[in-house]
Amino acid sequence: MKIRKAVIPVAGLGTRFLPATKASPKEMLPLVDKPLIQYVVEEAKASGIEEIIIVTGRGKRAIEDHFDSSVELEYELFEKKRFDLLEEIKNISNMVTFAYTRQKKALGLGHAILCAEPIVGNEPFAVFLGDDIIDSRVPCMKQLIDVYEEYHGSVIAIQEVKQKETKSYGIIKPRKMKDRVYKVLDLVEKPEPTKAPSNLAVIGRYILSPEIFRVLKKTSPGKHGEIQLTDGLKTLLKEENIYGCEFSGVRYDAGDKLGFLKATVEFALKRKDLGKEFKKYLKQLDL
Ligand code: UTP
Repeated sequence: MKIRKAVIPVAGLGTRFLPATKASPKEMLPLVDKPLIQYVVEEAKASGIEEIIIVTGRGKRAIEDHFDSSVELEYELFEKKRFDLLEEIKNISNMVTFAYTRQKKALGLGHAILCAEPIVGNEPFAVFLGDDIIDSRVPCMKQLIDVYEEYHGSVIAIQEVKQKETKSYGIIKPRKMKDRVYKVLDLVEKPEPTKAPSNLAVIGRYILSPEIFRVLKKTSPGKHGEIQLTDGLKTLLKEENIYGCEFSGVRYDAGDKLGFLKATVEFALKRKDLGKEFKKYLKQLDL
């Protein structure tokens, strides 16, 4: 079955990026001049996704406005003959079809995904976490879709991390199927390096079977009263195959201050209009 729909949960509190996220959504932080969530939506579109369901929460209205048409702005740009910008602004609202639903309380990623069930229905779907920005030749989600089409099971994006970093990620116990593809035998949330079953970490891109909804409904809240997606996936593993796709590309954790800074510098250096000047500036800094 074709993967047509994607869920982007954005109802988290963004505590790692306070105070910036007190009244503005973390997903609207710009990498150079484009909000994080637009990079994610562009990846979804380039992977063949037709409909995006954004699970929002309080204080996230700017995201809806960003993907809506902006009549006054379009008129002003037209009047000023800024046709290049006008085209760009119009494209943002015409990219894909958007649907919005609300998670009333931040009860965890698993709960946020459950909120999208009435719109997703009974079909496999993609999930994108907005703070994982992935720079790759082939869009990361397209790489997952290719694995899904070959193996017909849920697929999780994975990436090798340093052994000492396992305690910051969900880690899979893998069985290699072929180059860059693993069958997931188990999932362990944030293990100490000595207890980690591998150094293959779960990154914020998934293709999930609709069975996940049934499983999440039965998943009891874990830490801080939140329903964790990892707990749901662990249950799903007992019933269905889940695969890990070790995607090629560079991933930035843009929801973390240092990760965000690294992404900003690298994306700016790659820009045709800014890169050269910016590099010159960085070089002359007396570091
Ligand atoms: P995170 O826990 O990484 O993000 O959740 P956060 O809560 O926004 O940020 P920090 O950790 O407090 O700094 C992963 C993803 O799940 C969404 C978040 O918006 C993020 O995209 N999420 C999390 C929800 O939509 N609802 C929740 O209840 C929890």
